[in-house]
Amino acid sequence: MAHDLEKAKQDFLAKLAPLTKEAEILNLKSEFVGKTGVVSEMLKSLKDMNPEERKTFGPRANELKDFINDQCNLQLSKIEVEEINKKLAEDRIDISLTDNIQVKTTKGGGFHPRTIIQQEIEDIFLSMGFDVLDGPHIEDEFHNFEALNIPADHPARDMQDTFWFHDPHTTPADTKKYLLRTHTSNIQVRGMLSRKPPFRFIAPGVVFRSERTDASHEMVFTQLEGMMVGKDISVANLIYFMKTILKEIFKKDVEVRLRPGFFPFVEPGFELDIRCLICSGAGCSVCKQIGWVELLPCGMIHPNVLKAGGIDPNEYNGFAFGLGLDRLVMMRYGIDDIRHLQSGDLRFNSQFKLF
Ligand code: DAH
Repeated sequence: MAHDLEKAKQDFLAKLAPLTKEAEILNLKSEFVGKTGVVSEMLKSLKDMNPEERKTFGPRANELKDFINDQCNLQLSKIEVEEINKKLAEDRIDISLTDNIQVKTTKGGGFHPRTIIQQEIEDIFLSMGFDVLDGPHIEDEFHNFEALNIPADHPARDMQDTFWFHDPHTTPADTKKYLLRTHTSNIQVRGMLSRKPPFRFIAPGVVFRSERTDASHEMVFTQLEGMMVGKDISVANLIYFMKTILKEIFKKDVEVRLRPGFFPFVEPGFELDIRCLICSGAGCSVCKQIGWVELLPCGMIHPNVLKAGGIDPNEYNGFAFGLGLDRLVMMRYGIDDIRHLQSGDLRFNSQFKLF
């Protein structure tokens, strides 16, 4: 009987060795240890043996059964691993492949021309020691008007047609509390209240006016506010900064002119115009045929504004300006209608710097 066991084992090993397929191994397994398998039959014959024989043969037959099971399972798991590896190797994507496959190309995104100019101007100001601040689009009356020396019922409020939020839960008298900021000057107030002089900062952002649109007016447009507060700051400092900045932006000397301008938050206030770069001064729709474009209203900060910002006007003074970014974009790229900027038209947008 011992001889039969050894023979069965050798027989099994010889048959197993060349097998490479899962089904073949399962068949072999059942040939030896399945219900009617060679070894199973041997185990069945145990009952006909005498106790002595059974004692030695039983454990050895069971041992062989376990051995065959283990060998088959080992072989099966090897095949499984091989199959997985094969699949992984087939699925591998060679990301270094470029030349010999057809790469599907899509156009990358790009920056809006306004973003390009805004980032450039931010860099110029940062290099001149200015901070860059941000502020809320939904603003209250205090920051948008009152603190800027424009009290309720002041006629200057009519200069800026405002989008008000009407809150149905308040009485009509209270409704004019919140608005879409009409200018970035709201950040003057927030900037002053959160720092101690001397300081200088700019604040770029969109502003909103309930206005009729035309080639040079939009309801949503972009400004870049600036403020410098310190001791003994003069109009000469203001003019120097403005000229330097425009020169940096246009990469050449641009012709400017300074006119008196009225803004309640500056005294004196100015309008800084540049010679129209679209028509070189001959007259076009952007400059309304005058040859000059209003670009940079500015002035010396009104003492009331400094006070509202928690600054003593007897000790400190400064200048402020509100650069019209869209006009600047138009001048730089020769765009003759401001409405293109807000149009979202890809034929327009994709003409500028793509990633
Ligand atoms: N906030 C003004 C406007 O939107 C622009 C402006 C004028 C800003 C004079 C200033 C300034 O800081 O000094 O029309």
